[in-house]
Amino acid sequence: TVTPVILSGGSGTRLWPLSRSGRPKQFLQFTEGGTMLELTLQRTGEPTRFTSAIVVGNAGHAELLASQCGDGARCFILEPLARNTAPAIALAALEAAPDDLLLISPSDHLIADVEAFHTAVAKALPLAEDGWLVTFGIMPTGPETGYGYIRRGEELADGAFRVERFVEKPNVDVAQGYLDEGGYSWNAGIFLFRADVYLAAMREHAPAMLEAAQAALEQAHRAGLMISPNAEAFARSPSDSIDYAVMERAEKVAVVPVDMGWSDIGSWDALYDILDKDSDGNAHVGDVASIGSSGCLIRSEGPVVTVAGVQDLIVIATGDAVMILPRGSSQETKTIVEHLKQRE
Ligand code: GDD
Ligand code: MG
Repeated sequence: TVTPVILSGGSGTRLWPLSRSGRPKQFLQFTEGGTMLELTLQRTGEPTRFTSAIVVGNAGHAELLASQCGDGARCFILEPLARNTAPAIALAALEAAPDDLLLISPSDHLIADVEAFHTAVAKALPLAEDGWLVTFGIMPTGPETGYGYIRRGEELADGAFRVERFVEKPNVDVAQGYLDEGGYSWNAGIFLFRADVYLAAMREHAPAMLEAAQAALEQAHRAGLMISPNAEAFARSPSDSIDYAVMERAEKVAVVPVDMGWSDIGSWDALYDILDKDSDGNAHVGDVASIGSSGCLIRSEGPVVTVAGVQDLIVIATGDAVMILPRGSSQETKTIVEHLKQRE
């Protein structure tokens, strides 16, 4: 069986005003069936294939984590401060048994076709057992700069390939070059490997991180399912993602390309794309109405929101904030959040 490692440490400013530092997007609900974290746990909830999860997240979110994970977690590793994903995963790998197969699962994606996801994990299993760091590849649809790019090499097994090259977040020209060249996938951010294989890669490529994680866990405070690594020790870890620290550098990396309706809800525009729309292309969430309008995403957490005679807007209302943007420019949300911070 496979042990899911749920990463829940992101702070997510791109879905402001809904997502806030106290409640980032993994704790919010955007589609049917639960919050993004709950859906992530449900995807790996089947006991014949998966054990209960190791959940790694921010100590400030301990209560939210416990309440949303229910009995789906075998333990919660509560980071005293954020050091990005490479050290977070090291904590989980150290806590697991050396030969445990870890399925690293970001808690802020949607996967429409869970069956296809499970099939891809099954394909990846023999490679992971054999010491490969396995990634999952998504068919790219444009030169997005927020993703890792994976170049497929020789076929290792049916539907699994050696990774010839892994490049994290290339600039737009480089990304376009990869698309023109062909043979590239986006990195889904989901990984499958043995705990000891990941730790060996850390020892080779990021030893300072591994040492900090080890020390932090040795001196951890443990209470029930809650594990609180030592803050001083963990603070000594460099901050870096698994993509830069390990995947770009490691030798034995494989990719399983998969078409599973994957979506990284990185912006309001991305959310608009996947929501159900009426015949005028409006997506409505909450107590909202539109008259003579088209192409709008309108969402309210409380107040009644109405629009009339407008096109292609994003309108998001919560109890204490309202944001209105033209569709296609929701990356501006980051700028808005920074602007508001400076005003404080
Ligand atoms: N526990 C913990 N601690 N989790 C973290 C931390 C941390 O310090 N930082 C980020 N996470 C979680 C996030 O909540 C998210 O679920 C996941 O780890 C990935 O982090 P992101 O910050 O969202 O990464 P990204 O989107 O920039 O890039 C990654 O995902 C892309 C696909 O969405 C990379 O893996 C890319 O290569 C990939 O294409
Ligand atoms: Mg992300």
